Amino acid sequence: MRVCGYCATSWNRLLVICLRLLFIVPAGLHVRSQGDSQSDNKVMDNVTVRQGETVFLSCSQGDVVTHTAWLNRSSILYAGVDKWSVDPRVSLVTFNRDEFTIKIENVDVSDEGLYVCAVQTSSRPRTTFVHIIVQVPPKIIDFSKDMVVNEGTNVTLMCLANGKPEPAINWRVHSLSGGSVGSDDEYLDIPSISRHKAGEYECMAANDIAADTRTLRLVVNYPPSVLGGRDIGVTLGQRGVLQCEADAVPAATFEWYRDDRRIFNGFDGIEINDSGTFSKLTLFNVSETDYGNYTCVAINKLGSANTSIVLYEVIEPTSSTLLQVETTSFLEMTSSALEQTATECSQLWEEPGAVQDGNSGTSGTYTSLCLLLILTLQLLLKF
Ligand SMILES: *[C@@H]1O[C@H](CO)[C@@H](O)[C@H](O)[C@H]1NC(C)=O
Ligand SMILES: *[C@@H]1O[C@H](CO)[C@@H](O)[C@H](O)[C@H]1NC(C)=O
Ligand SMILES: *[C@@H]1O[C@H](CO)[C@@H](O)[C@H](O)[C@H]1NC(C)=O
Ligand SMILES: *[C@@H]1O[C@H](CO)[C@@H](O)[C@H](O)[C@H]1NC(C)=O
Ligand SMILES: *[C@@H]1O[C@H](CO)[C@@H](O)[C@H](O)[C@H]1NC(C)=O
Ligand SMILES: *[C@@H]1O[C@H](CO)[C@@H](O)[C@H](O)[C@H]1NC(C)=O
Ligand SMILES: *[C@@H]1O[C@H](CO)[C@@H](O)[C@H](O)[C@H]1NC(C)=O
Repeated sequence: MRVCGYCATSWNRLLVICLRLLFIVPAGLHVRSQGDSQSDNKVMDNVTVRQGETVFLSCSQGDVVTHTAWLNRSSILYAGVDKWSVDPRVSLVTFNRDEFTIKIENVDVSDEGLYVCAVQTSSRPRTTFVHIIVQVPPKIIDFSKDMVVNEGTNVTLMCLANGKPEPAINWRVHSLSGGSVGSDDEYLDIPSISRHKAGEYECMAANDIAADTRTLRLVVNYPPSVLGGRDIGVTLGQRGVLQCEADAVPAATFEWYRDDRRIFNGFDGIEINDSGTFSKLTLFNVSETDYGNYTCVAINKLGSANTSIVLYEVIEPTSSTLLQVETTSFLEMTSSALEQTATECSQLWEEPGAVQDGNSGTSGTYTSLCLLLILTLQLLLKF
């Protein structure tokens, strides 16, 4: 006690040593020498707190307290009402006969550990242990950037995260070939990438408290392939449209050739319209010399592809109209002939007198023939 009286007027450093002697050493010796019945050690439950939050540390006093302190590991935060810690986040909340409470604001990972409340009463020493566990929401700290690669490249995506407890990683892919759950590794390997693996790659780092998500776009380049290219038949003087479609990343540019001669937009009576994956060559007034072989070439930086379209002449629409007229008149003729025969037949039918007067056998045969004729004509008309 005499030593401590000296301490109280000396430097902090010495006071710390002094208080350690006062609380920790005597308390420990006390416990060992006099047995557990004489001390009152209490192990508090672990206190779990999130980074940035405030934690309250409380211990009971009671009896006649001579000395009391809150320690962070072995350094004193508060000795009674005196603040020893230089940390502005630490402050006193309650100090009375029953309770000694301090708080630590804006808790960080470095605050995690064992805190001790050491109480020296007139009768026996008492210590309360509090283990502060600091939780940190996951944060993705290193993540691959958006990527543009060529088909066939080996791709590795990275997603590094921290947090407490250690976050679990989960990759999700939203690609042309649909969504899928990928690896749970920090590194996602895609060997020899195909065009179908292009898309959005999402990494989620999650622990008990929260989750962090990042997304990147993965573009896979590949050379063009040309689709379609159907030959087109157009009548002289009509509009002719040649269409070509290319699948490529990056999008293809198009070139049109007539045999070996390049055709440009704005050529007399010709317009070339490109829109994304399509190219359309329009001949506004097809002439005799326009018929022939056209080639559409799709090009991007990885290569090119082409297709040939033949523009051929079709018969004047007037000739087919004539044919139609002829067919119609034939049908009309047949139709009227049928009507006439039917009338004659029914006249025969409706005259029983004539049948009875003449040869009944001949008349019956004639009537049957009439009916057969009508049926045949009707059949003919259907076709
Ligand atoms: C408190 O946390 C420590 C360290 O994480 C652990 O060893 C101990 O079992 C925990 N105690 C309780 C009561 O949860
Ligand atoms: C507790 O001690 C650790 C280690 O010395 C230190 O990093 C931390 O800031 C201290 N926390 C408080 C609240 O004193
Ligand atoms: C891609 O990885 C395979 C093995 O996984 C290897 O054989 C190949 O050489 C790699 N290709 C490139 C371009 O690195
Ligand atoms: C081609 O594109 C231009 C401008 O985008 C448009 O005015 C024109 O009508 C298009 N021509 C054809 C034949 O689609
Ligand atoms: C198409 O061209 C022919 C001959 O060059 C011309 O007589 C005709 O008027 C043109 N038609 C149109 C719609 O421009
Ligand atoms: C059209 O031209 C291309 C290349 O010039 C050729 O490969 C193709 O056989 C030709 N098609 C026809 C029908 O002549
Ligand atoms: C069209 O493609 C063939 C190979 O598929 C190539 O030999 C030819 O040169 C190409 N034509 C043009 C005009 O690019």
